[in-house]
Amino acid sequence: MNNQELMHGKVKTLYDTGDAEKVLIKYEDKVTAFDGKMVDYPDGKGKVCCLISALLFEKLSAAGIRTHYLDLPSLNTMLCRRLTIVPVEVICRNIAAGSLVKNTDGLKEGQLLQPPIVEFFLKDDAKGDPLLTEDRVRLMGVDPEPLKEQALMVNGQLQVLFTLLGFDLVDFKLEFGYDGHGDLYLADELSPDSMRLWKKGTQERFDKDLFRKDEGDIVTAYKHILTQLRQFA
Ligand code: TYD
Repeated sequence: MNNQELMHGKVKTLYDTGDAEKVLIKYEDKVTAFDGKMVDYPDGKGKVCCLISALLFEKLSAAGIRTHYLDLPSLNTMLCRRLTIVPVEVICRNIAAGSLVKNTDGLKEGQLLQPPIVEFFLKDDAKGDPLLTEDRVRLMGVDPEPLKEQALMVNGQLQVLFTLLGFDLVDFKLEFGYDGHGDLYLADELSPDSMRLWKKGTQERFDKDLFRKDEGDIVTAYKHILTQLRQFA
């Protein structure tokens, strides 16, 4: 790409477009886990994550949720609104898994969380992305309420969609950002890299846990999700 590189993330690269309000986000053929300690470069991974993200952002836009997604100029690159990213990772959970089970007591993996819960983590790898309280989020100058409200709306839409495909949406991570007018938009990515998807009944994993635990090929699993989404969504 000839555009000027603005930022190099762990698995995505941000490019200038010449338009101050828009950026290009390229999804790389790369996967990381455990704060970048585990890395691989699977062929086709960028494309499948970009295409799933684009499809899900389109679904959410159609449901009235503001997202940064504008267009898909190529299979691994999306044109997005340029935002100032809120340094808070918003995690929504429908089923207990991952750090929730690890860092609490008496919760079993697979336990239904009704109603779903929303958590906030600091987006700062150097500090180890610690869990925040809502008060701490406020002290950072960020109102947690609209983040929580949006996360629950996204959850409602995605849950219906994945239920239709025969998957449980266990949990997922969202990031948000503000545009130049101060309007909040859903940002980043929406793919099995940042959500847990378990096949209903068997609990077979179709997400990044396959890579984290070396239990299977993520590109094959993600492609299955994309095919299902294209058929039913
Ligand atoms: P969580 O259970 O908190 O952490 P871990 O995946 O390390 O066990 O993760 C909840 C969901 O959020 C899960 O679907 C993975 C996603 N997530 C990210 O995409 N990026 C992150 O940095 C974190 C911490 C979680």
